Amino acid sequence: MDRFLIDGAHPLRGVLRLSGSKNAALPILLATLLTDEPCVIENVPTRLRDIRFTFRVLEAVGKRVEVLGSRVRVHANKPLKTRAPYELVKQMRASVLVAGPLLARFGWVRVPIPGGCAIGLRPIDIHLQAFEDLGARRTLDQGDIILDSPLRAGPVRLKFPSVGATENLMMAAAALPGVTTIRNAAREPEIEDLARCLIGMGARVSGAGSATVVVRGCRTLRGVVHSVIPDRIEAGTFMLAAAATQGSLRLLDAQPAHLKAVTAALRRAGAVVREGKGDILVSMKGRPRPVSLSTSPYPGFPTDLQAPWLAWMCLARGRSRVRETVFENRFLHAAELGRMGGRVAVSADTAVVEGVPALSGAPIMASDIRAGAALVVAALAARGRSIIQRVYHIDRGYERVEAKLRSVGARIRRVK
Ligand code: EPZ
Repeated sequence: MDRFLIDGAHPLRGVLRLSGSKNAALPILLATLLTDEPCVIENVPTRLRDIRFTFRVLEAVGKRVEVLGSRVRVHANKPLKTRAPYELVKQMRASVLVAGPLLARFGWVRVPIPGGCAIGLRPIDIHLQAFEDLGARRTLDQGDIILDSPLRAGPVRLKFPSVGATENLMMAAAALPGVTTIRNAAREPEIEDLARCLIGMGARVSGAGSATVVVRGCRTLRGVVHSVIPDRIEAGTFMLAAAATQGSLRLLDAQPAHLKAVTAALRRAGAVVREGKGDILVSMKGRPRPVSLSTSPYPGFPTDLQAPWLAWMCLARGRSRVRETVFENRFLHAAELGRMGGRVAVSADTAVVEGVPALSGAPIMASDIRAGAALVVAALAARGRSIIQRVYHIDRGYERVEAKLRSVGARIRRVK
């Protein structure tokens, strides 16, 4: 298992180019199941573990995947299978997004229920209820959900704006003749990107990015060439790393419009953020002001940046509160930050952070992608050496992170 060795307290300075968004690329790659024609998806962060894994999921159900740098070509290989293997779904829960396209096309699909994970129980009841609302029948067999009977387009209201359920449903609706209206839909930029891809395939989609998405689908969708949006969570993580190390970073390919809540919070804490057309500059001098915030679905402050934010607030000049409202158990990084001298007390959904003048390096362990990112931010800012274990979590969501950070002055090394 790889580890990161980080010698901290060196300001990050320079220019970084962002990768394509993992969380946008993932459903878009699976949307290629909606057609037998070849699809080309560009700006895919192909080195990420989760993306490699998505290729395996596509291959398991019968697609062929060719990768050339960040360009991915997906084509029909053999007739598609309508079941996803448990071995894959248990390793990456987003594999359940095969259900929408396959069910809509073939009227039958078998998907294992993914178990919980480090950050919460993460049920898929909202996905299943939505499919039932469109006419699917659900049975359970050996831990797998079987959905059958043909879907019909129609109105659906989600009880929570789940990102995955919105995506699953949009993909299904794209292959259903008629109008499907999704109310209380997720509004994340990744939803808008999926909508653009589905439109390229021949569906008519409006309202993506608002709480009501309307999809007019058609039985036969065509191949598409689509370029994935830049990764706003990678951007936010680098913004926080720049701020925590009291450095200055310019992020190329950033979309400032996707980072409004993060930019506002950084500014309140004292960072300077300049938004350009397609880039963003962050710089910081000294310790941050304490800023309390709550995570919430987009356009609120993203849960995926809660952990790196909390790492920065450990260095604030005072007390802040960070409330996690999206996942029920997303504070595993708090104890690890404690090992570095951070003072974080977690009670229910809230972490209370007493800022300290400096963190100190320590051996620490990543528990999920973003908790891992928080430890990288903390270690880059801390005095002395940190050793981060379980780097495979970080590799799921950050492409070549050590090479990127080294290019802007970080002393970070991967040891096998
Ligand atoms: C997506 O997960 C992202 N993953 C997550 O990124 C991100 O944290 C999350 O959205 C929220 O922004 C991908 O896009 C691949 P949800 P998803 O369905 O779709 C509950 C990362 O680090 N819920 O919006 O699974 C659920 O338990 C990851 O990159 C139900 O109760 O998120 C959670 O508490 C991690 N029933 C909340 O809703 C359901 O059927 C939000 O989940 C579905 C969700």
